[in-house]
Amino acid sequence: MAKAMFSETDKVNIRWFWNNYLKEKTPWLSVIMVLIIIQGFVYQQFLVYTEDGLRVIFENGDFWDLLKICGFVIGAFGLRALISYVVPVLSVSLASEAVLKLRGQLISKVVHLNQDYFDHNSSSELILRMASQVDGLSQFVGQTTVNAVKDSITILIVSGYLIYKSAILFVAALIVLPVIFFLLKSVSENIKKIQRSAENVFGAYMTSIDEMATGIRTVKMSNQEDTEISRMYDASSGIKDLMVRLQKAEALVLPAIDLSSAFVFVLVIGGGGYMVLSDKYALDGASIIAFILGMVIIFDPARALSQFFTRMQASLILLESIKALVDTQDEKSDDIDKPKFQAETVDIDLNNISFAYTGGSPVFDGLSMAFKRGQKTAIVGSTGSGKTTILSLISRLYEVTEGSITFNGQDTRDFSRGSLRSHFSVVAQDVVIFNNSIRDNIRYANPSASEEEIEEAAKLARIDTLMHERGDLPVGPKGSQLSGGQKQRIAIARAFLRPAPILILDEATSALDALTEKKVNDAFAELQKGKTTIVVTHKFSSVLDADKIYVLESGKLVEEGTHQEFMKNSSLYKSMFDAQMNEQAS
Ligand SMILES: Nc1ncnc2c1ncn2[C@@H]1O[C@H](COP(=O)(O)OP(=O)(O)OP(=O)(O)O)[C@@H](O)[C@H]1O
Ligand SMILES: [Mg+2]
Repeated sequence: MAKAMFSETDKVNIRWFWNNYLKEKTPWLSVIMVLIIIQGFVYQQFLVYTEDGLRVIFENGDFWDLLKICGFVIGAFGLRALISYVVPVLSVSLASEAVLKLRGQLISKVVHLNQDYFDHNSSSELILRMASQVDGLSQFVGQTTVNAVKDSITILIVSGYLIYKSAILFVAALIVLPVIFFLLKSVSENIKKIQRSAENVFGAYMTSIDEMATGIRTVKMSNQEDTEISRMYDASSGIKDLMVRLQKAEALVLPAIDLSSAFVFVLVIGGGGYMVLSDKYALDGASIIAFILGMVIIFDPARALSQFFTRMQASLILLESIKALVDTQDEKSDDIDKPKFQAETVDIDLNNISFAYTGGSPVFDGLSMAFKRGQKTAIVGSTGSGKTTILSLISRLYEVTEGSITFNGQDTRDFSRGSLRSHFSVVAQDVVIFNNSIRDNIRYANPSASEEEIEEAAKLARIDTLMHERGDLPVGPKGSQLSGGQKQRIAIARAFLRPAPILILDEATSALDALTEKKVNDAFAELQKGKTTIVVTHKFSSVLDADKIYVLESGKLVEEGTHQEFMKNSSLYKSMFDAQMNEQAS
């Protein structure tokens, strides 16, 4: 049985779940088990009393005996009812605790996953796993499994009693078992297959909703409402197909059980009747009725159990998918024994580095650069030349495949990522705003900052007026109630608020008007003192005072120098600079 129902992976996963989330609850699980066993014996006792009662009736016995028997039956079922209340309450609370622990682990797992994971998995896939799949698993682990255990024990105890009553009759009834077994096996395999595609289907549906909602402005302005409707509709009809397939596979089981039980009843009534009529067997009418009643009692649990085994296949796939997430390589487990990097000022060196994004062609192949403390270093170059990628590699969002990046001569890979990143203050190219007040959005970069420090940072970033105007008002999902320049100024305020020796500005002022940009740049000039500043920009006005400028072309360093040096010679820099000046003049 076990071999047909569980693959090797399933066994590993179940063991993992048991050891991590349920084992510690063994005392309570034992209590549940004992209660369930008592419940099973209630049925067995019921059969005994019924048989006695029938005999009293058939053999014109004492009326008081009959009343006594009725009293016992009521008492037994009262006990069963009490247990029926206690067991679900207990088991659901145990399962919920176990699942809370799992969810907690998933939460801390997810925030430590590598950037690469988020490049390749949509947020809706994560939501699917962390919300609905965990939910499905929780239901399964709790009530469903406890019911199955209860059903199995009822079947075991009642069967035991039936065997004791008449082994021949019981064995005859088992004739149908192999049929049911093979049916369950083939259905299980089917259901596993279907459930595996469920993740894709639901993922596609959720992604289509997510992309529609976040991109609604583009949808409307490109008149693509119909495209979005059909995309979401297609995805949801995928769900319908899946449900139908699942139902078809599952629906085979119950009719098969019903049919075979009819067969069993015929056997028991016919065979049992024959045994009562013949003198060879010590079986009377009362015992045969009790026997049939016993079969009826087993019937419902057996039905439920067969359904449990088919449903379980789907849950095993959920478990597999959740376990896969838990096992995904993340930054935290990688950093666990690494020392913390600590320095007041930082010299950064890129030594002959090579890098390619997962599945992409190489962005760099032997690139070297240096960013000195107390200096402003600029990287200019055409779009897609790899400027932002350099910044991502310095902050170890990705790892170089060859060469090394050093801080003060020490390989950054020898330190924990968190400690390296605490040395950065960044204005990124794509600004991320949370649905909080502007003040809280700024505070995000340095939660321990005082109110005065936030005021000061907001003032330097020229966002103070708006911050006061809006007060505690949230700025909408992803800052949708703000203008592009306002969002960028919040990001700039964050950089001012975070005291760190390395300042990174990736197109930090691209959305600002010339006047605001000038004021913000003056404030930056003040902030940059003593720091290692890296500026990435398409605007040459921001690099005139740089101590060093790198010109990047398709991942290759083509020129390095200062503005004055470049302007003396005929350089690529000079031609790009001249082009921009001409454009502004015209
Ligand atoms: N997460 C990613 N996964 C795969 N490829 C990427 C990823 N991010 C960037 N790329 C690719 O890497 C190359 C360098 O991109 P990068 O963002 O570093 O350019 P950039 O110089 O910052 O350009 P821009 O001036 O437009 O910001 C591009 O060809 C880009 O398509
Ligand atoms: Mg960029």
